[in-house]
Parts: sequence; C-alpha cells; structure tokens
Amino acid sequence: MEVIVRSTAEEAAAVVADRFEQVIRSHPEGVTLGLATGSSPVLAYRELIRRHREEGLSFAAARAFLLDEYVGLPRTHEQSYYRFIRDNFTSQIDIDDALVLSPDGEATDPIAAAARYDRSIVEAGGVDLQILGIGATGHIGFNEPTSSFSSRTRVKTLTEQTVTDNARFFDSPDEVPIHVLTQGLGTIMEARSIVLTAQGEHKAPAVAQMVEGPISARWPATILQMHPSVTVVLDEAAASQLELTDYYRYVQDNKVRLPH
Ligand code: GLP
Repeated sequence: MEVIVRSTAEEAAAVVADRFEQVIRSHPEGVTLGLATGSSPVLAYRELIRRHREEGLSFAAARAFLLDEYVGLPRTHEQSYYRFIRDNFTSQIDIDDALVLSPDGEATDPIAAAARYDRSIVEAGGVDLQILGIGATGHIGFNEPTSSFSSRTRVKTLTEQTVTDNARFFDSPDEVPIHVLTQGLGTIMEARSIVLTAQGEHKAPAVAQMVEGPISARWPATILQMHPSVTVVLDEAAASQLELTDYYRYVQDNKVRLPH
C-alpha cells in the first residue's frame, strides 16, 4: 500500500487526478474506470473536469462502472448514485453516457440485478482503475463491517451509523434508504489498481485501521492490504491517527528512480 499525505484536500485531489490521467493516457485503446460517489472523490472529479476543459484530457475511450446504488431510489432522485455521478462528473466530460453503468436500484428483483451487474463488469474485462472513498465504519462501496472478503455485488443493509452519516445529503434521515446494491469486496479486489482517498478527521480512525490495523471483516477496507496496487491519498486530518506517517513521507521523498 502506498500512502500519500498532502496538506490540503485540494492537493490530495490533484494526486488522485494524476492517477486517472496516467491510466487514461496509457490506455488509448480503451480504459475501464471504477467510479465512487459520496463526497470523498468530488474534488478529484472537479480537477479532472478542469483538465478535460483546459488541457484536453479526453474520456472518449473510457467506460465506467459505479460501485453502488441505493435500493428503491428512482434514478431521477438527486441522491441516487446514477444521478450523483452525472451531476458531479460524467455529464461534464466527454465520456459516452451509455457507458456509465451502475447497479439497478429500481429493479423489481435487486438480487438478480446485482448478479447481472457483477457479470457485466467481468464481461467488460474488469476495471483498470478503481477510485474509492471510505466510510467511518470502514466500509468501501457499501460493504459494511462483517462483509465477506470474497463477496460479489449484492444487496446489503446499511449500519445505523452510515444512514446517519449519509442523512446530510437528504432532507431528513427517514429518507435515506437502508438497503443498497454494492459491488462486493471480492469484486472490488479484482480491479487492476485502486486509489482510495479520504479527507477530514472523522475518517482518521477508519483510515488508521485500513492502513495499519489487522486484516479483519470488522473493518472491511483492511482487505486492501492484500491488493498489489493500492494508493491511499489523504489530507493531514484523515492521516492524523496513523503511526507511521513519517515513514510514508520518507518513502515519497526517496522514490526509486529508474535510469533513463
Ligand atoms: C458512501 C459510499 C461510499 C463512500 C463512503 C464515504 O456512502 N457508498 O462509496 O466512499 O460512503 O462517503 P463520503 O465520501 O461522502 O464520506
């Protein structure tokens, strides 16, 4: 796991945007992006929109899969992840809207819809770069504590804490759906590379567990310690409970440079 700590959330977002840019430019024939919703990636999306407008970064060869979706929320609801990703990112770049896919939260049979969605990711050849946030409970996607490390896309029930955390986006806490469709931990782990970003002090305990804690389904994000290509990009507040921050900075300052 590579850990990068930046002074501000804006600087951290630029590092995340760099990862996207690298993977897009190195796959001109077509790239599959894994997109996350929630507030964590929004600054990075804003930076990518800027690079698209001002620097010609093109997403024309990209397709995208979202991590998760609320069950029962219509696509038109501004908090559906279908709509959120369009409002905050994909409608402002040149990606083909038909290739921005997400689990079908309105399906009459969400269990079958979840399995179908999981298959569609595999059939598309998998995800080249997955961006993740992390919940205060240590969830990635909506894989709450005790999620199986080998889980696939499925229906989950949110913890009370996540419902409360996400209530800020809705008019009232009663409106937050308690059921969701989410890529499983096993599904997420198949992405070829992952960048996880977190900002703010409220994420510090979950971040510390994820990076330095024992691997356990109690903190689902700890499974990322088993992935060969994960970059964790933090602001100082989110990094504040890490024990080895000096070492992570030392690593960044002494990167191995290959001779030209
Ligand atoms: C949300 C999403 C996750 C997100 C996490 C953190 O509910 N399902 O994908 O990473 O919880 O949310 P936020 O980025 O808003 O803090």
